[in-house]
Amino acid sequence: MEIYYYTFTGNSRRIAEILASEFGGEMREIKSYKLPYIIWLILSFIPFLGVKIDTQPPSGSEIVLCFPKWTLNCPPVTTFLRRYAESRKIKMVTLVPTKSNIN
Ligand SMILES: Cc1cc2nc3c(=O)[nH]c(=O)nc-3n(C[C@H](O)[C@H](O)[C@H](O)COP(=O)(O)O)c2cc1C
Repeated sequence: MEIYYYTFTGNSRRIAEILASEFGGEMREIKSYKLPYIIWLILSFIPFLGVKIDTQPPSGSEIVLCFPKWTLNCPPVTTFLRRYAESRKIKMVTLVPTKSNIN
C-alpha cells in the first residue's frame, strides 16, 4: 500500500510515518511550491483551486492520503485527487486529514 502525504509543517508526514510503521507500506511525498503561510492561507479559501505538484504516480489501485485540513481547500491535495482519483487510476483512497498539532 502506498501512503501519500502532503505536509506544510510536518504533522501529516509524522502521521504517514506512524501508519507506515504500524501497517507497512511505502511513503510517497506530494511536493509543491514552498510558499509562505499567508499565501497558502489565501489560496486555501479558493474552492477547487489546484497548484503544480510533483509526486510519483501510484502503482496500485488503493492508497492512503495524509494531508492537513486547510480552510476550504488544500490546493496540492486537490491537484493530486483530480489527477489520480477522479481519473479512476486509483479506485480507493483512505483519507487521513490532520488538524491540530500532534507533538
Ligand atoms: C493554510 C492553512 C490553513 C489552515 N486551515 C485550517 C482550518 O481551517 N482549520 C483547522 O483546524 N486547521 C487549519 N490549519 C491548521 C492545520 O490543519 C494543522 O496545523 C495541521 O496539523 C498541519 O498539518 P501539516 O503539518 O501536515 O501541514 C491550517 C493550516 C494552514 C497552513
